[in-house]
Amino acid sequence: MTAAIVPAPGIPRKGPLWGSTYWLFNLGAEVYAWFTSSAAWRASCARLAARLADLDSAWIADLGCGPGVSTFQLARQLPTARLVGLDLAPRMLREARRAASRESARITWVQADAASLPFQKASLDACTGHSFLYLVANRAGVLSEVRRVLRPGGRLVLMEPNDEPATVARTLRVSRDPRHLVSISLWRPFSRLHGRFTIGTLSATLAASGFVKCRVEATFGGLGLLAQAEAPA
Ligand SMILES: C[S@@+](CC[C@H](N)C(=O)[O-])C[C@H]1O[C@@H](n2cnc3c(N)ncnc32)[C@H](O)[C@@H]1O
Repeated sequence: MTAAIVPAPGIPRKGPLWGSTYWLFNLGAEVYAWFTSSAAWRASCARLAARLADLDSAWIADLGCGPGVSTFQLARQLPTARLVGLDLAPRMLREARRAASRESARITWVQADAASLPFQKASLDACTGHSFLYLVANRAGVLSEVRRVLRPGGRLVLMEPNDEPATVARTLRVSRDPRHLVSISLWRPFSRLHGRFTIGTLSATLAASGFVKCRVEATFGGLGLLAQAEAPA
């Protein structure tokens, strides 16, 4: 494994993806990397990674990895895991490479669309997405791809924005770090625009795509939802 960025074939330079949020994340990669480097965001990534702590030498793809905060946290907590950080936005992946750490040697960065994953059928033990699925227009298409690449019983763990109201008090209770406050003040309206989840709708979305053992609970001081599900055995 190297820390190179591997472009998957067929990344479109025009077409429907350009109507997605992809270009915005690409342009804002440096700013995004700054405000998600807060301890609060990292702690949220840590809670997601903890859901995979029992897997040994697992192949894991972190979908929509952005500047790699979530992927590096997985690497720190899962010392035997082999990780792929996958994102559509090349500038996000450049930020991830720039943030090289002790864990970098175990991470491969791949530029690809999650709706067309560059992995073989049943080749991964787990997929993660931290603040990812809500952005995707074709959620069923992405989840069907995740099911294809997960081995039977393979795990999907997601952290997504919660549709519950986020009061100022609730936000401050998580952290008073200015980076956290900036991230939440952008995350809330942005996720409202794209469609947040409730415990019920996230659970139903995963079940409708054929995932089993779906469990969803509030996390991140109630601002987010942590979901775990499995590909059928
Ligand atoms: C809100 S960021 C989350 C980044 C990181 N996981 C974190 O928690 O900070 C969402 C990322 O998903 C990426 N993304 C959006 N649609 C995608 C798609 N169809 N395939 C792959 N990545 C996508 C965006 O480029 C962006 O970097």
